[in-house]
Amino acid sequence: MAGGYRGYKYFEAIEKRAGLLGILTAIMVSLGGLAEITPIFMAAHEVKPALGVKPYDALRLAGKDIYVREGCYLCHSQMIRALRAETERYGPFSTAEESVYDRPHQWGSKRTGPDLARVGGKYSDEWQRQHLRDPRSVVPESNMPSYPWLAQALVDGDDIAARMRTLRFLGDPYSDADIAGAKAAVSGQTELDAVVAYLQGLGIANEPTNAKPQQAAP
Ligand code: HEC
Repeated sequence: MAGGYRGYKYFEAIEKRAGLLGILTAIMVSLGGLAEITPIFMAAHEVKPALGVKPYDALRLAGKDIYVREGCYLCHSQMIRALRAETERYGPFSTAEESVYDRPHQWGSKRTGPDLARVGGKYSDEWQRQHLRDPRSVVPESNMPSYPWLAQALVDGDDIAARMRTLRFLGDPYSDADIAGAKAAVSGQTELDAVVAYLQGLGIANEPTNAKPQQAAP
């Protein structure tokens, strides 16, 4: 080659072998990908809870698990995007700091119904109960399913303590007292009570006495 570039023969050898070219290309693309993705993964572990965001108390945790069990996420997202139309309808956009105790997160990708990230406090407990028992009794045009069985089933207290222990193992700061008191905290509560407690805490600092939004409007 003109100029006698010494690497040329290696390039030619690679370019003439499609398989080798493919493998080496894949290696280079992977290295590039790793360089892009690794710092983001590291940063994800650094995310600290937003002010006022605490691990779910026993009843809300039970409600969150029932929400997952019933597949509410198939119709509801919990992720307000940073778009004007969204923030005007639902409130301040969602941040990673608000979801640190959501395992698995409930961001969702489908909105047959509205986003629920900040639905806490929007309606009364009684409205939420009636809506879950029979959505069309409060919103006639609703196509949300009824969940009448939630009012019949009691929350399992032993189970919820075990879940809290597992979450603590994963890093959530539950105290021994939180776990020891879990069974008593949910005793006599129905699954409907748990889901309503969960919904009423969404987007609200998880402190029962502190019902302020988690962040000011951006
Ligand atoms: C098949 C889709 C579907 C499923 C599944 C579903 N919903 Fe809905 N949901 C809707 C629709 C549509 C609306 C809007 C009409 C209404 O208020 O009923 C709605 C509204 C709501 C609202 C009121 C939101 C607002 O801002 O007005 C809440 C709260 C809610 N759903 C909770 C739940 C919970 C909890 C579950 C699971 C137990 C659930 N939904 C399952 C479709 C669904």
